[in-house]
Amino acid sequence: MTAVHTDILEEIRALKVRENATILAHYYQDGEIQELADITGDSLQLSRAATKVDRSTIVFCGVHFMAETAKILNPTRRVLMPDLAAGCSLADSCPADKLARYQEMLRINGRHFQTVTYINSTAAVKALSDWVVTSGNAQEIVRRVPEEYEILFVPDRHLGQYIQEVTGRKMILWNGSCMVHEIFSVGDLLALKKKMPHALTIAHPECPANIREHSDFIGGTEAMVRYVARIEAPTDFLVATEANMLWQLQTKVPRHRYLPVPGITCACNKCPHMARNTLEKLRDCLAHGAPEITWQPEFDRAREVLQRSLLQ
Ligand code: 13P
Ligand code: SF4
Repeated sequence: MTAVHTDILEEIRALKVRENATILAHYYQDGEIQELADITGDSLQLSRAATKVDRSTIVFCGVHFMAETAKILNPTRRVLMPDLAAGCSLADSCPADKLARYQEMLRINGRHFQTVTYINSTAAVKALSDWVVTSGNAQEIVRRVPEEYEILFVPDRHLGQYIQEVTGRKMILWNGSCMVHEIFSVGDLLALKKKMPHALTIAHPECPANIREHSDFIGGTEAMVRYVARIEAPTDFLVATEANMLWQLQTKVPRHRYLPVPGITCACNKCPHMARNTLEKLRDCLAHGAPEITWQPEFDRAREVLQRSLLQ
């Protein structure tokens, strides 16, 4: 570790005390950020953890919808994030005005439905929804939707298709996808499996069906940690999700070996949005108290939906 690197870690720790802050970090952040964080987790765990933060400031190292969710669920806290421009291709694929028009068209056509929305969406979209799900609770929530309703699932068509398969509930799927999980190469995965026939493949449900069908386990990031922890014998895992997850798996369950499933266009599988957060920006947001997530009018309605879906 260089002296400059040690200095910035010390600066962040001192600022965290000065600003009475708790740092939350998603499993897709660089290992050095996850190491510094008070709490790491998947989207569901971090949303719930945000409600329990008793310090006055939350610094959210993740993407915009995650920090926004933390603010909505714990409104009296100041919520900062290192880079406000850290977005998400899934959230971008479903603008609120487009969703509202589509819902209206379905209603005019006599469709009787509830809208189930993946947490990877804006607060304005959550405000138009009946339920919000994460990869960790989607099956449970979909089973809570009364049978007399159709389900409009937005915005991730792959997660929706997967939940449809496991619950047997037919859904109208929005045509969105995650730019990271969309590009895993099934050809390279099959070649890797041939070279390592003993290896187990674990895939995030944001992956397309052609990756999921060659996987031994499908689950969100926290479910992956629990799955590999249950396997006692040292095992090789081929991992089809964002590459920083390998750091978390290696740290929590070091007896196994983890190899990334390659993507079609690049072998790194890093989310460019998550990667906007750096140690320097983390230090600067604590030092300057900005950028901050401020309360928006649509947060009130989004709060009702989030509380009902994630906390009850
Ligand atoms: P989870 O945190 O639910 O595993 O979702 C992963 C993800 O893509 C977050 O953007
Ligand atoms: Fe969005 Fe995909 Fe990045 Fe997660 S990994 S923040 S779903 S673009």
